[in-house]
Amino acid sequence: MVSIQGLSKAFGGLQAVNQCSFDIPAGGITGLIGPNGAGKTTLFSMVAGAVRPDSGKILLDGEDVTGLPTHKLFRKGLVRTFQIPHEFSRMTVRENLMVVPPGQSGENLISALLAPGRVRAQEQAVRQKVDDVLDFLQITHVANELAGNLSGGQKKLLELGRTMMTEARMVLLDEPGAGVNRTLLGKLADAILRLNHERGYTFCIIEHDMDLIARLCQPVVVMAHGRVIAEGSMDDIRRNEEVREAYLGGHAARKLDEDAKP
Ligand SMILES: Nc1ncnc2c1ncn2[C@@H]1O[C@H](COP(=O)(O)OP(=O)(O)O)[C@@H](O)[C@H]1O
Ligand SMILES: [Mg+2]
Repeated sequence: MVSIQGLSKAFGGLQAVNQCSFDIPAGGITGLIGPNGAGKTTLFSMVAGAVRPDSGKILLDGEDVTGLPTHKLFRKGLVRTFQIPHEFSRMTVRENLMVVPPGQSGENLISALLAPGRVRAQEQAVRQKVDDVLDFLQITHVANELAGNLSGGQKKLLELGRTMMTEARMVLLDEPGAGVNRTLLGKLADAILRLNHERGYTFCIIEHDMDLIARLCQPVVVMAHGRVIAEGSMDDIRRNEEVREAYLGGHAARKLDEDAKP
């Protein structure tokens, strides 16, 4: 589990994240919502080690990991994905999966020279893992396609696949639904649920699509103006007057009502 304790970050005079505290419970799918500019991505960047907080603490399974760089957190099993997928567009889907570092101490050049047989065995294992990931995400039919030719939704599936190639089990997803069509969004949601249920992944998901949040996430955390303003089930959030009136505004509040209709 990740415990976020009083995190703050200012950019110039702007308090992007202001004394935020909440937990990302192990084995759960936590939702993080809030209007644009609320500070959600900045919070993720701090948890993933890309941005150093001005103050506050981040605990990963009880260990203080505040200020650790991304690669060290990665080795401890925490990884984040980006709003805009970072695929290698001129490599195939399969190659994009092959090149993901596993996130463990793993191979170095010396041991590769001393024990070529073991390296071959490892390559074989990686190939099998790639096949498993392609199959799990149902993207085997585009395995040999250049990643740059994929649709927005397929790129998101590939990005999820790249996290599956690592040992990471604490995964931060920043707007996985952005630019994804309905069909692929359903596939992506299914994949996230199955990774959670069948393979023990913990997720924290930033998302504007309230259907996706309602379907996947419990608890849901709401941020606005750098602060956490509400936390609970999607039903609690929908009923929360502070969320409705003061922060989400009329349009988003109506959207919450529409989504709540059976
Ligand atoms: N690197 C940065 N430099 C300056 N301001 C930033 C930077 N990153 C984010 N901000 C500002 O911090 C606030 C929160 O942004 P962000 O964390 O991206 O919000 P969200 O993801 O909720 O939309 C915004 O006002 C944004 O303009
Ligand atoms: Mg953002």
